[in-house]
Amino acid sequence: MKKPNQPAQGEESSKALDKKRDEDLAKDRVLIYHLREVIKTREAEGTAFRLVVPSLQIALGEKIALIGQSGCGKSTLLDLLAMVLQPTTVGAFRFRPEPGAPPLDVAADWRRGQLNHLGDLRRQRMGYVMQTGGLLPYLTVRDNISLSRRLLGMPDDGTVEQLAKSLEIERHLSKRPSLLSVGERQRVAIARALAHKPSIVIADEPTAPLDPITARKIMTLFINLVEKFHITVIVASHDWNHVEKLGLRGLSHRTRQHGDLTETVVTG
Ligand SMILES: Nc1ncnc2c1ncn2[C@@H]1O[C@H](COP(=O)(O)OP(=O)(O)O)[C@@H](O)[C@H]1O
Ligand SMILES: [Mg+2]
Repeated sequence: MKKPNQPAQGEESSKALDKKRDEDLAKDRVLIYHLREVIKTREAEGTAFRLVVPSLQIALGEKIALIGQSGCGKSTLLDLLAMVLQPTTVGAFRFRPEPGAPPLDVAADWRRGQLNHLGDLRRQRMGYVMQTGGLLPYLTVRDNISLSRRLLGMPDDGTVEQLAKSLEIERHLSKRPSLLSVGERQRVAIARALAHKPSIVIADEPTAPLDPITARKIMTLFINLVEKFHITVIVASHDWNHVEKLGLRGLSHRTRQHGDLTETVVTG
């Protein structure tokens, strides 16, 4: 009989196979993000914060979690990745929205001030879920969800209804957001971020205002949908449960205090 700490022969060869498969996957990995030496410094009222990203690579289709306490720089990193915030210094920042396309040199766009190009890229290729919905109060749920599609001239092909069904908000489609609970509004916000079938969805603590049971239910629906559509997802949260239960890859980061400067280093 095998001793408890001694792997059986079969186990060892399956480990070797796993290693080989991981190496093969790594070779084939098509990166949606490739960042090197990206730094963002923020100052406010005598305190300073610095986010340092020595190296970050995210493959198309990956599910990423950024877990950490308030103030550690989650929103700063997400805003950099969403290209709404410009880094203070940047070695490389490449974004490849499709497997077949060459990576786009975002750092060069920033250097040349080509912010319109980045805005177009964001509208077409990205979806964003905020902590508190950010829905337009004067539009119905249906029109909120379909807005990005309409702005991009995409056809009315049933995607909105399909998403509403998956997120269990069909019965609210004709209502204004103010008539919905906070959880229902977050479901609408998720549907809106996915409706134009972006390459990536970035979600900044999308379940923070919800009770833990609702939060988990909605996060599970969200992750199931991005998997179904093969959309890359990056989600900030303070709940480790999401990482373990939903199979997300957690980015590692550490925060240090140097006098008045707080510095967070993220790698992954
Ligand atoms: N617009 C801003 N101007 C200056 N400092 C900011 C700004 N936004 C955030 N910060 C600072 O950056 C640090 C990180 O904030 P943030 O990225 O929002 O963290 P988290 O999302 O993890 O709570 C904090 O110290 C915060 O005070
Ligand atoms: Mg935040």
